[in-house]
Amino acid sequence: MQGEALTSTTDLDPADFYTGIVAELYRPLRAFSPEPGPYAAFIKEAGGPALELGCGDGDPLLELCRRGLEVDGVDSSADMLDRLGRRAREYGVRATVFHQRMESLKLSRRYRAIFLAGPTFTLLPDDDAALASLRGIRAHLAEDGTALVPLFVPTLTRLEEIGRVRTAVGPDGAELRVSVLAEERDEAARTQTALLRYERHHGEDHSVEERPWILHWYSRSDFQALAAAAGLVVTAVTDAHGAPAPASASDLNFRLKAAA
Ligand SMILES: C[S@@+](CC[C@H](N)C(=O)[O-])C[C@H]1O[C@@H](n2cnc3c(N)ncnc32)[C@H](O)[C@@H]1O
Repeated sequence: MQGEALTSTTDLDPADFYTGIVAELYRPLRAFSPEPGPYAAFIKEAGGPALELGCGDGDPLLELCRRGLEVDGVDSSADMLDRLGRRAREYGVRATVFHQRMESLKLSRRYRAIFLAGPTFTLLPDDDAALASLRGIRAHLAEDGTALVPLFVPTLTRLEEIGRVRTAVGPDGAELRVSVLAEERDEAARTQTALLRYERHHGEDHSVEERPWILHWYSRSDFQALAAAAGLVVTAVTDAHGAPAPASASDLNFRLKAAA
């Protein structure tokens, strides 16, 4: 363990992490924004309609819709979906989104392309949630459909970064802050938990919340076995540039199809 004792001020289900103050601070403070290009290329190759799991407040879903692709979205956070709805109106695009968890997916149509943009799948806290999600993907894939699941193996935050505050200014002028207070890693459970502190300061408003952020990772063979148990076969494992991924790669894009 690094940093202070890992206790949070809330007891949240991992699927509810991106709610409240986190949904508000997510966009201004995020470290990573998925480029729409690779997902547009994936949908063109796999065919539509497409479904983004963990679409959050709309990146890359809204840009893909703006480009004329038919992409629905699913997210477990109503707060993130509210933000997506507001951004869709500003963008002038229509998007159909569903407030559901990917581990209990229940939609009325099937998709030729199902994808996560970035390694959102690692937010599922354990293999049971992963298997349930893969079964949901299988059930919603069209006969010739393809799923794209990016995965990565997280590394521990460097010791000198623990407690370091990242700041941004919100649209209303509020000072927004996020920092990692502590982190622990369980190699056997393939789980890393960071205690994150979110702050919003504006006039008399000083909102502070500490939440555990859980990442659960997979070896290539672990993921392949879960996919097989869900009735899916891995058809390709590529790196960020679409080239076959070497055995040592820790960032992997899995393509999956329904097993025969
Ligand atoms: C890192 S954000 C990415 C959002 C968006 N794709 C982006 O890059 O801006 C991850 C999203 O996955 C959603 N999420 C986390 N666990 C989920 C689950 N079990 N089912 C559905 N969505 C989930 C969160 O609510 C959050 O909006």
